[in-house]
Amino acid sequence: MSGKTYPVFEQWAQDAHITKQQYENMYAQSVNDPDGFWAEQAKRLDWIKPPSIIKNTSFDPVSIKWFEDGVLNVAQNCIDRHLDKRGDQIAFYWEPDHPDQPAQAITYTQLHERVCRFANVLKELGVKKGDRVTLYLPMIPEITYAMLACARIGAVHSVVFAGFSPEALAGRINDCDSTIVITADEGRRGGKSIPLKKNVDDALPHALGVEKVLVVEHTGADIKMKGGRDVWWHEAAAGADEFCDIEPMNAEDPLFILYTSGSTGQPKGVVHTAGGYLTYISLAHETVFNYEDGDIFWCGADLGWITGHSFTLYAPLSNGATSVMYEGVPNYPDASRFWQIIDKYQVNQFYTAPTAIRALMGAGDDFVTKTSRKSLKLLGTAGEPINPEAWEWYFHVVGEGRCPIVDTWWQTETGGCMITPFPGATDMKPGAATTPFFGIKPQLVDNDGNVLEGEAEGNLCILDSWPAQARTIYGDHQRFVDTYFTTYRGKYFTSDGCKRDADGDYWITGRVDDVLNVSGHRMGTAEVESALVSHDMVSEAAVVGYPHDVKGQGIYVYVTLMAGVDQSDDLAKDLRQWVRKEIGPIATPDLLQFAPDLPKTRSGKIMRRILRKIAEDDFSNLGDISTLADPSVVEKLIEERQNRS
Ligand code: WTA
Repeated sequence: MSGKTYPVFEQWAQDAHITKQQYENMYAQSVNDPDGFWAEQAKRLDWIKPPSIIKNTSFDPVSIKWFEDGVLNVAQNCIDRHLDKRGDQIAFYWEPDHPDQPAQAITYTQLHERVCRFANVLKELGVKKGDRVTLYLPMIPEITYAMLACARIGAVHSVVFAGFSPEALAGRINDCDSTIVITADEGRRGGKSIPLKKNVDDALPHALGVEKVLVVEHTGADIKMKGGRDVWWHEAAAGADEFCDIEPMNAEDPLFILYTSGSTGQPKGVVHTAGGYLTYISLAHETVFNYEDGDIFWCGADLGWITGHSFTLYAPLSNGATSVMYEGVPNYPDASRFWQIIDKYQVNQFYTAPTAIRALMGAGDDFVTKTSRKSLKLLGTAGEPINPEAWEWYFHVVGEGRCPIVDTWWQTETGGCMITPFPGATDMKPGAATTPFFGIKPQLVDNDGNVLEGEAEGNLCILDSWPAQARTIYGDHQRFVDTYFTTYRGKYFTSDGCKRDADGDYWITGRVDDVLNVSGHRMGTAEVESALVSHDMVSEAAVVGYPHDVKGQGIYVYVTLMAGVDQSDDLAKDLRQWVRKEIGPIATPDLLQFAPDLPKTRSGKIMRRILRKIAEDDFSNLGDISTLADPSVVEKLIEERQNRS
């Protein structure tokens, strides 16, 4: 927890939306008088019926409602209300995968027209308020039209990251009973094509409820269209009206479902609602990023993840911003691409994940320093802990020491930033998320639930509700209660470890459950294990994380084969491919070790703590192994580990 402190820049302390004094006053009001604070903040939005009830929440029993008698429409707040003043302003600059492909600039007026058309096409296909619509789309403008069209007509979108496999897609379609899937012929990433429509075709035999597939033509690839089921977006749109009324939505109506990994079982469909979510992220976008009218804002996150939902799409649009949306990856055609895009669009605020920063840092400074980056005012990170070395590089090389960094800690379930510096108010410490956002009451507890005061390290809980909090897990409210509010009864448990330093600043240390964070993507060890044991030759598998220079955490799998099956390098390769096919490339194991036996307690529970230590090459610190059914298993595993490369 030691290390440098970078004091707030003087200019920022004077000019920022939130100065130190303002932060202190607003934070105090937000926790002492949440009704007053959030009633005021709700005025950021246009309401068809303004809310008179503000906060009605309890963590024991669990019941969370914000602005419950308010009526609004999220798409109207993101588009229509800006049209008078900003009709000709660019809402999105869209940058293609390769710089030689044509870019697009979409004004608010154009966005309105396209979203309306999209909404009318969805209605034509039978989509009604409350229906779930699955999106499996690349980072192309149409994904924003589709999400906003759902919001416009009150349908609930479920965006599935376009890197997931057909199997993973089918599971997510079935879980929320979607009858319609929106996809594209292909996606592009880093010069490669991703066969999205083919993946949907492969998924649908396992998702029999799907009646319609709406297909966006993107690369022009030759794909199969199934009569009666598959519809081209451009054909349907040609006949669609360019105006579509908004559906009035209760603040507590669901806006979207987003699947995320937990420590057990299959991914959970986290449900976010309209009013509280938009109010909170709109405030976060303005204050954490110090967004000012006219700024060009770029959040690099894919719309398949929460960071994309909140900060690539909804928050900037709610504030009438001009955003950048990029189809590709950080290092294609080369490691200068991010910085070239920043120069091309004169980006003012740039927000990305530590894994991208580490990868680009590894490519060398020249790729950065040959670009200008003079437009940058602020840098942000999210998704995983940032190591101080990467922070310093981001600060000194990318930002040339001019730009504050906001290291924002939050989760799919929290909807928006929870612990984060404010650039005009908070001294920065490389690696620390620092201070709570408005309305957030963090608390550290030990494993027995005892509250830890002062300088301490423990499990991070949040004591009271905030408007952007997830309301439930789709179709399984009990799982929501059990997962988040039962470990420490009456508190929201984040599953993150955290330290609080002598100044009261918070440092997130990473997950304390069986969830890995691989390149900023959440990955349940249980999901990877269940993919492995579905292979004929595997009898048992245990998955743990280990430190990885670029990805933050790598995936380390221990595999026990069926009796009579011989281990070989080819089989190891096959098993890695198998997981890739079952879940998607992001789940591909980095290291695989065959294990004739796994260390288990006498009651048969796998001792992951030991497996983690072995994966980390930390054999001296295995702790007590005397409770194992057969302690000699550990020696064999260590021997194998030392023999592998
Ligand atoms: C981790 C991403 C340290 C954390 C927005 C959390 C972070 C998980 C940070 C949620 C950060 C996110 N510093 N760790 N600034 N931001 N995390 O749901 O472990 O994809 O629980 O949401 O990422 O990942 P998710």
